[in-house]
Amino acid sequence: MRKTIIVTGGNRGIGKEICRQLVELGHDVVLTARSIEKGEEAALEVGAKFRELDVSNQENIKAFVYKYKEEVGELDVLINNAAIMISDGTDVLNIDLEVVRKTIDTNVYGPWLLIQELAQLLEKSEDGRIINISSEMGVIDDLTSNHPAYRISKTALNALTLIIHGKLGSSVKVNAMCPGWVRTDMGGSGAARPVAKGAETAVWLATERDVPNGKFLRDKRIIDW
Ligand SMILES: NC(=O)c1ccc[n+]([C@@H]2O[C@H](COP(=O)([O-])OP(=O)(O)OC[C@H]3O[C@@H](n4cnc5c(N)ncnc54)[C@H](OP(=O)(O)O)[C@@H]3O)[C@@H](O)[C@H]2O)c1
Repeated sequence: MRKTIIVTGGNRGIGKEICRQLVELGHDVVLTARSIEKGEEAALEVGAKFRELDVSNQENIKAFVYKYKEEVGELDVLINNAAIMISDGTDVLNIDLEVVRKTIDTNVYGPWLLIQELAQLLEKSEDGRIINISSEMGVIDDLTSNHPAYRISKTALNALTLIIHGKLGSSVKVNAMCPGWVRTDMGGSGAARPVAKGAETAVWLATERDVPNGKFLRDKRIIDW
């Protein structure tokens, strides 16, 4: 089945690679990015369509969805990939809470509002799916004191995944996944994995017929929250 798929933060890193792999599989991919110039360039490179979307801006999210509903009007898969990890000094006792707010705005409220705005379209799909790109840095039993803003945002994104699954899970498959430590601007050049490997599980969750529902995965296997 050819699917219509929205990917956030598609102009570089894992998001762009997810778009590339999905296009190669023959799907209609809407690569979104907050920079029109970078987004258009990436979309041209991978063969996706481009739309502007800044997930930290509620008005921008609503304007994007309004236009998308008018011009495309159908959606099978939403991949919430865009995220930030601000070099925040990493000390939980001193971190500026503005950094925490900004991180949660992008990494949690952005995906949440997009899901709210697109749920109706996803429910109309024969095989609707939501994939939240999370991180093992948010795993509740492994939380440590470094990168507190990012960790809390990913723990919250995992919680959001379960809560949305509770609401939509009978008609839309809702999962979170961790790409592993990947060589991107965020992961750094010392990371173990190439982007192709980092994108793999998200692409599988978006396209494979029988995938889990309401789970957290890495390398196509269910892992603990
Ligand atoms: N790399 C890793 O090792 C690793 C490990 C675990 C989880 N992850 C997760 O994997 C996902 C992708 O990470 P990555 O490594 O590819 O990161 P990246 O190279 O830093 O790319 C992040 C992407 O998100 C976009 N973005 C950030 N804020 C945005 C906003 N407000 N609106 C729209 N787009 C926004 C960026 O766009 P701009 O170019 O405009 O900034 C960029 O396209 C993230 O959810 C990350 O948390 C990554």
